[in-house]
Amino acid sequence: MIGVQTLDEFIIRRQTDFPYATGELSRLLRNIALASKIVNREVNKAGLVDVLGTTGFTNVQGEEVKKLDLLANKTFIASLELGGQCCGVASEENEEFIAFEAESSRKGGYVVAIDPLDGSSNIDVNVSVGTIFSIYRRVSSPEGLCKAEDFLQKGSEQAGAGYVIYGSSTMLVYTTGHGVNGFTLDPSIGEFCLSHPDMTIPQDGKTYSVNTGNFYDFPESVKEYIKYCKERGQQTNSPYSARYIGSMVADVHRNLIIGGIYIYPSLNGFPDGKIRLVYECNPMSFIVEQAGGMATDGSRRILDIEPRELHQRTPIFLGSSEMVSKAKEFFDKGTK
Ligand code: AHG
Ligand code: MN
Ligand code: MN
Repeated sequence: MIGVQTLDEFIIRRQTDFPYATGELSRLLRNIALASKIVNREVNKAGLVDVLGTTGFTNVQGEEVKKLDLLANKTFIASLELGGQCCGVASEENEEFIAFEAESSRKGGYVVAIDPLDGSSNIDVNVSVGTIFSIYRRVSSPEGLCKAEDFLQKGSEQAGAGYVIYGSSTMLVYTTGHGVNGFTLDPSIGEFCLSHPDMTIPQDGKTYSVNTGNFYDFPESVKEYIKYCKERGQQTNSPYSARYIGSMVADVHRNLIIGGIYIYPSLNGFPDGKIRLVYECNPMSFIVEQAGGMATDGSRRILDIEPRELHQRTPIFLGSSEMVSKAKEFFDKGTK
């Protein structure tokens, strides 16, 4: 490989595009990338060493915590704390946010919300998993520790967001609000290399991703939209395919590249659905919007939702703009 551009080089070059940038966000991104390489190493070894299976604990969401969930959580938190740019972390795996107290990190200008391992039910069967992260500028005084208000900003306030997919190859995709770029890990040199510059999501996709095992618990409007997706092939010469991995990162990554819609709607008895706003929906929506797509909860833009609590859930429909707009027509006609 000749003439590759590594993630580190790319970040440094981008920083010089912003004359007043201090380099803090750049360093933070590089720390996240470093932690993701460590997690990648562990995910790759799963099956050989004792990292598969559950810890026997449940998290604040009542979900089973897998060993790799914990390992990924510890790795990202430790890396962010050591880095010094981030003054606190909110994680899927921790009930409360963690405010870093060490002198070196408490004054950091950013906070990070993270889903350390997304799709963890897929780990034991060797299917792609991921990490999702969201970066905010702190709004609390740098004199004290970070506060809940730093994490409960609207998604539109994100300074950066990204995901890592531990798949057939490992990729890191991120945005700082100036487009989306994707980097593939070259394991032989241990570097993320620019492989997908200026990613854009096709306006109209071919894939719909939804867990139809829950079909009878979906709102009528969502059932109608899914019916439309199934019937489309008969009505047009452009049929849709159903693809659902059960790792949001992997489903959204595929849709970002070939076009499509990811749906996790409200369910009978679970009006907010399953996916968490702060560390899953917001970062993925920021990326998809930056790539030219759309993200809605059925009536509101995801990035405009005012979070009330860290682990808040929301229905989500995100992906190619024409597909999301079409789905919205169904919601606008009926109930969410
Ligand atoms: P996590 O593993 O971080 O808890 O997230 C799992 C999420 C998301 O990645 C995925 O799309 C969805 O849950 C799958 O849920 P279902 O099994 O209910 O379809
Ligand atoms: Mn997740
Ligand atoms: Mn997770």
